[in-house]
Amino acid sequence: MVVFLGSNLMKFLAYCILVCFVTVPLVEGRVRHYKWEVKYEFKSPDCYKKLAISINGRSPGPSIIAQQGDTIIVEFKNSLLTENVAIHWHGIRQIGTPWFDGTEGVTQCPVLPGDTFVYKFVVDRPGTYLYHAHYGMQREAGLYGSIRVSLPDGESEPFSYDYDRSIILSDWYHTSTYEQAAGLSSIPFVWVGEPHSILIQGKGRFNCSTLGIEAGLCNTTNPECTPYALTVIPRKTYQLRIGSLTSLSALSFEIEGHNMTVVEADGHYVEPFVVQNLFIYSGETYSVLITANQDPSRNYWASAKVVSRNSNTSNGLAIFNYYPNHP
Ligand SMILES: *[C@@H]1O[C@H](CO)[C@@H](O)[C@H](O)[C@H]1NC(C)=O
Ligand SMILES: *[C@@H]1O[C@H](CO)[C@@H](O)[C@H](O)[C@H]1NC(C)=O
Repeated sequence: MVVFLGSNLMKFLAYCILVCFVTVPLVEGRVRHYKWEVKYEFKSPDCYKKLAISINGRSPGPSIIAQQGDTIIVEFKNSLLTENVAIHWHGIRQIGTPWFDGTEGVTQCPVLPGDTFVYKFVVDRPGTYLYHAHYGMQREAGLYGSIRVSLPDGESEPFSYDYDRSIILSDWYHTSTYEQAAGLSSIPFVWVGEPHSILIQGKGRFNCSTLGIEAGLCNTTNPECTPYALTVIPRKTYQLRIGSLTSLSALSFEIEGHNMTVVEADGHYVEPFVVQNLFIYSGETYSVLITANQDPSRNYWASAKVVSRNSNTSNGLAIFNYYPNHP
């Protein structure tokens, strides 16, 4: 009898260990697994060809799309050949996992060329976040992307929309990040100057005719520098998550003919307010609601222009593309 009870107790304990410690965390959040390769490639984001850092061939890198409570696993290989890397998850609190914050030299040793490193952390708050390289000037070279955390199934935000989209704004230089870094750290100091382009979701357009002998590197018919098109269906409302990862530029973002209702700033819901343009500084994120309520027989420009100083950099442009016009 004692033996019988004992074995039942053991079964119960084994069951409890399985149910209490194994099953419950899986129910709370999903695991999102990403496999990335970071490398240098020639890219023409604004029609001018230069070296950029890509993740799986892209800059911005793949978006991380998750729900609150999910575990993100990013297994990434450093294929840069001669440079270390670390990736910082901007806005993610890393509760219980400070060693995965990605700040090289502070919370981790850098990942050496040829090595693979696995980041594993929980996204504990809904909102719009960013990730970017945290080594040298690799972020400026293109190593960045967005993180979108929505509420768990069955929960909804204090506002409504039909579709969810993300874009990142950045500034782009034709000089190499090594030239910029050497200038900034030399005596006398050599200023980096104005960016050559403002990119919206990794796309810009540089006026190649302004170049002299370098014009061969610039080709406006290259499909890589076709403006980013945010395709919308008439009358639908879009939650557009906008992040800025500029090095130098404060930007004003607007969409021709459309108001934006700001609903979230840096991962926190805000009392909604309507704006025509949004001032956004580096490292910030906003979510805005935009209803495609204008004449659907044409398209509209989305633009990002440098503010707070005199800049000769052309505005970054993307297309707010009504679906009936879509090829
Ligand atoms: C491009 O630059 C050329 C030469 O400076 C200028 O004539 C032309 O108007 C510019 N084009 C645009 C679209 O700004
Ligand atoms: C510019 O790019 C187009 C399309 O990629 C290509 O066909 C053309 O040869 C290029 N022009 C020059 C001058 O390289």
